[in-house]
Amino acid sequence: MTKPLNVGLIGYGFMGRTHSNAYRQVSKFFDLGHEPVLKACCARNEDKIKAFAENWGWESYETDWKKLVERDDIDLIDIGSPNNTHYEIAIAAAKAGKMVICEKPLAMNVKEAEEMVAAVEEAGVANMVWYNYRRVPAITLAKQLVDEGRIGRPFHYRATYLQDWTINEDVPQGGATLWRLDAAVAGSGVTGDLLAHSIDTAIWLNGPITSVVAATETFIKEREHAETGKKQAVTIDDACMFLARFANGSMGTFESTRYARGRKNFNTFELNGADGSVHFNLEDPHLLSYFEYKNPTTGHKVEDHVTGWRDINVTNFEHPYMDKWWVPGCTIGYEHTFTNAVADFIAGLDSGNGTEPTFRTALETQKVCDAVLESAKSGNWVDIK
Ligand SMILES: NC(=O)c1ccc[n+]([C@@H]2O[C@H](COP(=O)([O-])OP(=O)(O)OC[C@H]3O[C@@H](n4cnc5c(N)ncnc54)[C@H](O)[C@@H]3O)[C@@H](O)[C@H]2O)c1
Repeated sequence: MTKPLNVGLIGYGFMGRTHSNAYRQVSKFFDLGHEPVLKACCARNEDKIKAFAENWGWESYETDWKKLVERDDIDLIDIGSPNNTHYEIAIAAAKAGKMVICEKPLAMNVKEAEEMVAAVEEAGVANMVWYNYRRVPAITLAKQLVDEGRIGRPFHYRATYLQDWTINEDVPQGGATLWRLDAAVAGSGVTGDLLAHSIDTAIWLNGPITSVVAATETFIKEREHAETGKKQAVTIDDACMFLARFANGSMGTFESTRYARGRKNFNTFELNGADGSVHFNLEDPHLLSYFEYKNPTTGHKVEDHVTGWRDINVTNFEHPYMDKWWVPGCTIGYEHTFTNAVADFIAGLDSGNGTEPTFRTALETQKVCDAVLESAKSGNWVDIK
């Protein structure tokens, strides 16, 4: 018998939509022990949250997240609101005994993140952070190739996360839609928004990062505030580049900007090892490029006149998640990463084993983000403790 999982969602924006879609789809495609019930959604603007609830089929709505957290008919609080709200909501939800899943980055800084980890662990509630790129089948396949020993001793990890939507100096900052450009709400610029994803993926594929040295830049120093119309200093990092050392002895480079003309969501990584390499680009999400030098099963070294990179079309039934979707050759997309994530969260609930990345796992990414920002200020290498 499938049990209901009563969801309370906070935020009706970009993530409010992806999460709502995932809750509606997941039980149609995955065979799970719990079925999400769209119990209540929440945001401060009553007209907008009411319209959102009607559009997506939420049973009810609230305009104060504290009321949502207190409701007896809610099992799971899903935080899809800006970064400066995560801490207070997650701690209140854990104290109320609710499961909590929270958008990334987990918090504004390590101090907040540590308290959030303590809160969910003391309450003993299931928790997860929406690092949804782990659920892109091609990225999950990359993890599988690493675990199968196909990369061998790793030497280099190379990540980029490039966009171009803030190049125009007339783009304002702050307010309901442009809070990402205001450090008081976002915590940081591209470091917490984009590199947090790259760091989570890197740690997942290549293990812990031990130290970093970084440089950041704010290209446009002043922008109008979206609410006051007044020009004021820009407080976020527009671009960030950092070098990293991994515990396994490999080296990494990470680059992120919102000033790479023509790049929209250019989230890439490449891992080079002694026995093979993998490369991925989110703008071509169904492909994983793989270079095989040594096959770990046969020990055979592939070194002849047809040796080369191959693009694996990650749509076959034997590929991660793909037996749940369509037929080989039919691609899935961005929204499915959220559905796959909900499916994994529920599977963790069904088995009692939980699901990665937990708040504790996401704390490691937060530590790297904080170290990157500290290093950008001091110019020194910073160890991750
Ligand atoms: N996993 C991903 O790939 C991904 C992508 C985009 C955003 N995010 C993260 O998701 C979160 C939300 O981002 P978004 O792009 O959906 O933002 P958004 O601006 O589109 O939506 C934010 C929503 O939060 C609501 N909100 C703000 N303050 C609130 C409060 N005090 N109480 C209740 N509701 C409140 C707003 O009304 C809005 O509905 C951020 O933490 C962001 O970093 C993650």
